[in-house]
Amino acid sequence: MITSRDLNKKMEENSSCGIEDPSKSCCNCSPKEAKGEELKSHWDTAYQKKPENQLGWFEQDFAPTLRLLDQCEFHPNDSILLVGSGVSRLPDLLLKKGLSEIYVTDISEIAINEVKARLGNQIQYKLGDILDEKMLEEIPSVQVWFDRAVLHFFTDEKDREVYFRQLKQKVKSGGYVILAEFHLDGAKKCSGLPVFGYTEALYQEQLGDEFKLLDSFDFDYIMPSGEKRPYVYALYQRKNSGSSDSTLDIL
Ligand SMILES: C[S@@+](CC[C@H](N)C(=O)[O-])C[C@H]1O[C@@H](n2cnc3c(N)ncnc32)[C@H](O)[C@@H]1O
Repeated sequence: MITSRDLNKKMEENSSCGIEDPSKSCCNCSPKEAKGEELKSHWDTAYQKKPENQLGWFEQDFAPTLRLLDQCEFHPNDSILLVGSGVSRLPDLLLKKGLSEIYVTDISEIAINEVKARLGNQIQYKLGDILDEKMLEEIPSVQVWFDRAVLHFFTDEKDREVYFRQLKQKVKSGGYVILAEFHLDGAKKCSGLPVFGYTEALYQEQLGDEFKLLDSFDFDYIMPSGEKRPYVYALYQRKNSGSSDSTLDIL
């Protein structure tokens, strides 16, 4: 079985992202790592350059996400954190389904402002880098941590460690984690940035035994350009949940 250590070694050996087939990307930029302000500006530009429905990650059909969310139990005041949510219409859908504690985060101010203009104070927003350990301080523990197409950008082992530390600090006991990232065998870059692909086993390796796999599946996302991008979706539950009678089946 391939482990993240094997993959780290491979990435270190190769100073670029290792792309041989340029068609395996979701734009024509050359792959490069970006951090801090450069990263923020990369994403602001991505959202400025194209209309929402032309973005290489635009999602119209939330069926794969709902398959996993439908398995999560929600209590009346439980919250969901959408990590690097961009301009996704997922919060709109969650509001329609009756959820009220929705936190949207992103590094792009342009994206956050676009969602604010659409949804106003129906949800809560946090602008910043998910790897900034202070970023989630004001957000209470969450019942669901949801990430589609963000974690795969963390190609540095250290960044992944920070990401999973943040996740473990925020997800309640008995809470859930939904990850939907590029598949290990899929594209090697997204939005011009190198990616670190996953399998369900690689997610589990990072989450550890404290999280139990409830469901997972491969999903071929079709980009607006018509190209195929294989993702791996997985739902985990944090162990040691205290059972409660007041479960509300919202989703
Ligand atoms: C490929 S898009 C996916 C957007 C959204 N999750 C979706 O499925 O439509 C990646 C998103 O992650 C955000 N992002 C990238 N790096 C981030 C970071 N370090 N912290 C927070 N957000 C980040 C970007 O601004 C962008 O909105």
